[in-house]
Amino acid sequence: MSRKPSTLVLLAHPDPAGSRVNSALTDAIRDLEGVHIRDLAAVRRADGFDAAEEQPLLVEHDTVVFQFPWYWYSVPGILKEWMDQVLLYGFAYGAGGTKLHGKTLQVVTTTGGPNESYRASGYNRFTMSDLLRPLDATAHLCGIALAEPFVVHGVRHLDEAALAEYGARYRDLLAGEELRATA
Ligand SMILES: Cc1cc2nc3c(=O)[nH]c(=O)nc-3n(C[C@H](O)[C@H](O)[C@H](O)COP(=O)(O)O)c2cc1C
Repeated sequence: MSRKPSTLVLLAHPDPAGSRVNSALTDAIRDLEGVHIRDLAAVRRADGFDAAEEQPLLVEHDTVVFQFPWYWYSVPGILKEWMDQVLLYGFAYGAGGTKLHGKTLQVVTTTGGPNESYRASGYNRFTMSDLLRPLDATAHLCGIALAEPFVVHGVRHLDEAALAEYGARYRDLLAGEELRATA
């Protein structure tokens, strides 16, 4: 019997209780079948993450979602820490490091800057695809396909209706086949 595809959403917000946008996005997908949300701030220990606990979760799922607020043109520290402590040699890369081969990484991020600021002529000078290159390289090294990122820009100006619309789109993305098709 073949297993249904499953998705592990790593919610990487340092303060989920203080989040408006990422918490709304997470609420929109919470009851989806086959989608498991892991709140990294809730499972983090004083010294960070336990690879022995995190790695089997990655192996069990077909798609991994990095969902995070965009901080200083990158992932928040909590996600970088998770990457440093979990994506280890011999597991994710290097000799014998093939455990993540064939999986898909879906980046979901929210930015303060508006869409038009993320271009060569904008005040942020670079496109999101330029700035996401470290994640692209990481996925490639680990044998993971990178799906088209889902980016919510200009969060300070999003009203409740727009936020609900992004929530619905996020839900459709995780519920449907689009994610695998763009990988
Ligand atoms: C420490 C910090 C760094 C940030 N850096 C950026 C940035 O580089 N570019 C940007 O567009 N927004 C930046 N922002 C705005 C956040 O992306 C925005 O507050 C977040 O997406 C809102 O999501 P939330 O409601 O889930 O917290 C930053 C915010 C903080 C607190």
